[in-house]
Amino acid sequence: MIRPFSSSDLDSILKIESQSFPKSPYNGATFLNLHYLYPETFLVYVNLSTFLPEASGSPSTRAQTEGLRVDPERRFSPGPEGRNLDAVERVDINNGPKEEILGYIIFSRDGHIISIAVHPQHRRKHIATKFLQKAMKTPHLKKVWAEVRRSNHGAQAFYSKMGFQITGVVPNYYGNEDALIIERTLVKKLS
Ligand SMILES: CC(C)(COP(=O)(O)OP(=O)(O)OC[C@H]1O[C@@H](n2cnc3c(N)ncnc32)[C@H](O)[C@@H]1OP(=O)(O)O)[C@@H](O)C(=O)NCCC(=O)NCCS
Repeated sequence: MIRPFSSSDLDSILKIESQSFPKSPYNGATFLNLHYLYPETFLVYVNLSTFLPEASGSPSTRAQTEGLRVDPERRFSPGPEGRNLDAVERVDINNGPKEEILGYIIFSRDGHIISIAVHPQHRRKHIATKFLQKAMKTPHLKKVWAEVRRSNHGAQAFYSKMGFQITGVVPNYYGNEDALIIERTLVKKLS
């Protein structure tokens, strides 16, 4: 699920940031400032799941806890006798549903993708695709564009798959590395 960023997401966002961009100059203040500037278009992707409290005991206890993690798709499916076994056996009544932040996007309403990152363990699940699709639905948008490090081949492959093309280069944009400017023109259906 995609929803707007809230300040309680900050710690998770900072972890994703440091894992995604080891040289990132963004800190907590940067993200809060970006939220101030782009309150509607700083979005996070959340996974709603329900956890039992952290297991700290034996491997079997840990395995049991792992096994009891709720699959949100199945949470309300009835058991063999019509009982909601998932709800009975899996819901943690102390902690309730917990949101896990899997990624974020920040873009301006005129189509500049300021930053996008997905948690390393959740890549190639089309999360960034969903973010971009959402951004591209912004009314009256004629194009979306971003800067990408010349060495960031993964991101370039992603943008290429999304129909972006390289339209320019900014020498030493990142200090000692060039930025490629990539963009995709949006064709809106006439109504
Ligand atoms: C770039 C990034 C945001 C992509 O996120 P993602 O959720 O994994 O991307 P998606 O799953 O939506 O990828 C869609 C398609 O793009 C292509 N793609 C995405 N990442 C790719 C990679 N590392 N290598 C090759 N192709 C890739 C694939 O065709 C993929 O479809 P497939 O998995 O069905 O083959 C993510 O790798 C990331 O956070 N990287 C670090 C931060 C970063 O570089 N951000 C961009 C800065 S401009």
